[in-house]
Formats: sequence, structure tokens, C-alpha cells
Amino acid sequence: MKRDLISMVDVKDDLHDIIRLSMNLKRQAKKGKRIEHLKRKTLGMIFEKPSTRTRVSFETGMTLLGGHAIFLSTGDIQLGRGESIQDTALVLSRYVDMIMYRAKSNDAMRELAKHATIPIINGLDNKEHPCQVITDLMTIQEYKGTFKGLQFVYLGDGNNNMAHSYLLGCGIAGMNIRIVSPKHYWPETTYVDEAKKFGINVEITDAVKGSTNGADVIATDTWVSMGDEAEKEKRIKEFKGYTVDKALMSAAKTEALFLHCLPAYYGYEVTKEVAHGPQSVIFDEAENRMWAQIGIIVTLYRYMFP
Ligand code: CP
Ligand code: NVA
Repeated sequence: MKRDLISMVDVKDDLHDIIRLSMNLKRQAKKGKRIEHLKRKTLGMIFEKPSTRTRVSFETGMTLLGGHAIFLSTGDIQLGRGESIQDTALVLSRYVDMIMYRAKSNDAMRELAKHATIPIINGLDNKEHPCQVITDLMTIQEYKGTFKGLQFVYLGDGNNNMAHSYLLGCGIAGMNIRIVSPKHYWPETTYVDEAKKFGINVEITDAVKGSTNGADVIATDTWVSMGDEAEKEKRIKEFKGYTVDKALMSAAKTEALFLHCLPAYYGYEVTKEVAHGPQSVIFDEAENRMWAQIGIIVTLYRYMFP
């Protein structure tokens, strides 16, 4: 059966299995064992926006799995000059075994998934970034051993792809979430409502003071996502005061973790002191993109060819 990963809700029944598989394959590979579960298989990677981590981690992940990945920038393929998403999906489905798509719009993502006969993985769109949030949950699992009873706090742009996927991801994992963001940047209500359905405690606030008290995990993301560049100056003004700094970190639990999907803009959403400080796990998190995606790819492939 074809299974896609477009939204975090697509893994609501598989999250724990994917994390377990990813951690297991990571352990095996680090011991020098071969994890070639996708020998001679090919991943097509369509990019409409730039990327460092997503591109390299998917490509190296496919190498470790014994397969291959093809980088397809929309500037270089016919999709970029008007070929339809439907035809692109139907053609690529004849060549490759899976597609990772970094899209400008969630509608385009869903259109590709609708027409492709192979699994589609969302490598970020304007609404969600599920691969990153599965990675972040895996990183929390590695450090904390559990999600139960943990308080997750996200500061910054509450209306972006990371905030939306964190809401759903915390719901699925069973972790309470607090989003701290100027009112104008609060998440879309559908994501808040969906998260609440999992029975977790969801708080949305614009009050920075006290927001990290007792937190187990603190996360942030850029204030200016890809596509928001025209609003850069306005956003920097509006997010003033939402920088994750040493004072906010020290109000959290002493063993609290700091997460950031990267790229980071120091002095804006986080200080370099925090991002490169003792509680930060951002480079483990970056590495885990590769391991989490290995788990995701193997899982989707097994659904397709049981
Ligand atoms: N975190 C993340 O998706 O990074 P890239 O934009 O570099 O892929
Ligand atoms: N919210 C950011 C995430 C980058 C990985 C963006 O969409 O640009």
C-alpha cells in the first residue's frame, strides 16, 4: 500500500515504531554493520527552495541504505518551466521508488502525492516540516528516554511549518506544548485543535516572561522562513523580546534541552551562547535528520512492498 508522509498526522500510529527503527539502524550503522535495506532503490528529491540538511541527509541516508538519490532542483527540471505536477508525478513514478519534495505550497505537495503511484515524503512546505519534527522527537527520546510528562516550549514564529508540526508531534508523542509567540503569529487553529485531540495540554501565549519555567525542552526557529523574506524588517521588529537567551534557558529545568532545526540566525531567535551552549543538542539533532529519515524511508517502503 502506498503511504505518504505529508503531515505529522500521517505517522500518528507509526511514530514510536519509526523512532525505534531509526535508533536501531543508527546503532547498527555506528557499529559498522550494513543497513542496506533499499539496495538499488532510488529516491527522487525535488527542491523548490534551498536546503543544506534535507538534501545532504536524504542523499547520504540513501547511500547507507544501499540505494541512490537524485537531486532535482525545480530550476533545472521541466516542472520549473510549466510542466504540470500531475505529469511530473506520473513520469517520476516510472523511474524512482520514492519522492522527497520540498515545496513552496502544501497544495502542490498534496497534488504530487495525489498523482504519484509511489510514496511522497514532505521535506518541508509552507504548512509543515514533519521529517524535522520526527527527528526532534527522536532526539528528545535519546536524551530523555520518554516523552511522558515532559513540557515542550516553542518560542518565536508560531504560525510556521515547524510550530504546526510540533503541535501535532507533541500530541502524538504525548508531550505538553506551550507556544510563545506574538498574537499576530499564533498557529492556525486547525493545528491547535488537532493537537488537543490527543489529550495533551496545549497553551498558546504571547507572554515571554515565565514561559520557560520548568520546561524540559525549549525550541525555536527562524523568524523569517523561506518565502517570508519581504517581511524581514517587520518581523524582526515584531518578534523583539522573543529571543531564546541565557535567562530564558536558566528558568527551565537544569537538564532542559535546547533544539533548533537550523539554519539559525544568532541574535534574533536565539543567542549563539545558548545555541552553542551546554544544553544545546542542535548538532545531534542535525545528524539525526539522516537517521530519522532512514527510519521513515524504510517504513514507507515496507508499507509499499510488505
Ligand atoms: N532544518 C532543515 O530543514 O534544514 P535545511 O533547510 O538546510 O534542509
Ligand atoms: N521555518 C523554516 C524552517 C527551515 C528549515 C523555513 O520554512 O524556512
